Amino acid sequence: MALFSNIIISPKPFVLSCSYQNTHLSKTPQNTKQDAIFKIKGPATLSGHITISGSKNSSLALIAATLCCSGSSLLHNVPNISDIQAMASILCSLGAKVESFDGKMMVNSDGVGKIEVDLEEMRKIRGGFFVIGPLVARFGEAVVALPGGCNIGKRPVDLHLRGLRALGAVVELRDGKVCAHTANGKGLVGGRFRLDYPSVGATETLMMAASMADGITLLSNVAKEPEVVDLARFLNDSGASIEGAGSDTLVIRGKSQLYGSECVIRPDRIEAGTFMIAAAITRSCISMSPVIPSRVSCLIDKLSEAGCKISQVDQHTLRVSAVPELYPGDDLKSFGIKTSPFPGFPTDLQPQIMALLTTCTGSSLVEESVFDNRMSHARELQKLGARIQVNGNSAIVFGKDKGSSLCGSRVIARDLRGGASLILAGLAAKGTTEIHKIEHIERGYENIVTKLQNLGADIERSTLPSLSSLV
Ligand code: EPU
Repeated sequence: MALFSNIIISPKPFVLSCSYQNTHLSKTPQNTKQDAIFKIKGPATLSGHITISGSKNSSLALIAATLCCSGSSLLHNVPNISDIQAMASILCSLGAKVESFDGKMMVNSDGVGKIEVDLEEMRKIRGGFFVIGPLVARFGEAVVALPGGCNIGKRPVDLHLRGLRALGAVVELRDGKVCAHTANGKGLVGGRFRLDYPSVGATETLMMAASMADGITLLSNVAKEPEVVDLARFLNDSGASIEGAGSDTLVIRGKSQLYGSECVIRPDRIEAGTFMIAAAITRSCISMSPVIPSRVSCLIDKLSEAGCKISQVDQHTLRVSAVPELYPGDDLKSFGIKTSPFPGFPTDLQPQIMALLTTCTGSSLVEESVFDNRMSHARELQKLGARIQVNGNSAIVFGKDKGSSLCGSRVIARDLRGGASLILAGLAAKGTTEIHKIEHIERGYENIVTKLQNLGADIERSTLPSLSSLV
């Protein structure tokens, strides 16, 4: 297996065996009464090229998967965002050694001495729950908190737990913790499990667990998301045997040991999608790379339907143009979306699309079918002048000829992607938009302010006295 005798690590890696820190991300000291905000002056016209960062959700799964591996794993193109910092801290709390430098992360979990995760760290991110699979599979036991993350619905973990039981784990809920151990005291055993819903997280948990189980596992109705494919690739490079990633059935032949390997994290399709929508909402033309076009094809179709011109400049570069000359006398047209698992329209782009639709002509129906509470951005978009009628998990969005007229205001990011939709609306709005609670946005977008500034946007990050009076 690939180990890293030939890799030169520079400049100055820092090694953290019990706590993870990253000096690149600015942090507000906890005892200060200041909140960071984004201030955007619109309307903006964007131009130029941006580099898309590595995928947040692929990185989270792969960092957890390094716990399956003996020796060191080296991940390249890991985004420098707070969710990744939290995940690294979780691994450190178990005794893994994590080094982070220049977008690379090296993890060695041979020294893992604990099976109970730091519960406070874990409650911060949903992805932290992923460690349950590798811990039970490799160390026979795990104690983890029920997961945290964005406030976008109930987000149960029953499929993760039922799947682990199908592989021979005893799983109990005690004092708000999930305690799991192997029933035979030795290790997990291969089995069959059909997911009631193609959950991304449950698919990933079970792939990691089954990779080290004794025997063959058949998982059906699994998630087909690109992040599942990325995880399978990393695990297979580490010695696992997973067939079928990207389809709805996985056949996994368990191995007694996996070995650290090296992997370049694929570009973040949701960040790419957010910038594609930024071009559309500002009626601008920008290009971006690296992008894997097949991972954003649903968005390409929808933006093309609206009137944008999207061209593939080379294998990994897309240009998105929404400049008005494209549709003389008219404007971008409304279109409907219904979110669904991949290859359907991604729920993680639903809020950003809602912002765009307020600037198009006509009315549209936005339906959220993946999460049961992912509409809170509508209320904030309304503060910016959008006309949106929410009814449960669907919304009618009225375009600019039907009463929406974006105008700068003070708004609050309620979750990561909802926060991104406010940035987009702020870019299109006349006047100044102040976005509060930006820690939600910084969980998932690397250097978003600098990237937008480089495209010509008037956006800055600043600090203000505490927000308590606003919430
Ligand atoms: N679900 C269950 N039981 C389970 C697991 C999931 O009922 O045991 C339900 C959920 O309640 C939800 C649906 O299944 O209604 C989909 O959840 P899924 O498990 O697929 O999502 P996840 O693994 O929790 C990941 C991403 C999300 C992304 C979704 C869907 C990570 C860390 N998170 O979440 O990303 O929205 O898949 O694609 O990979 C984001 O990046 O902003 C984000 C929320």
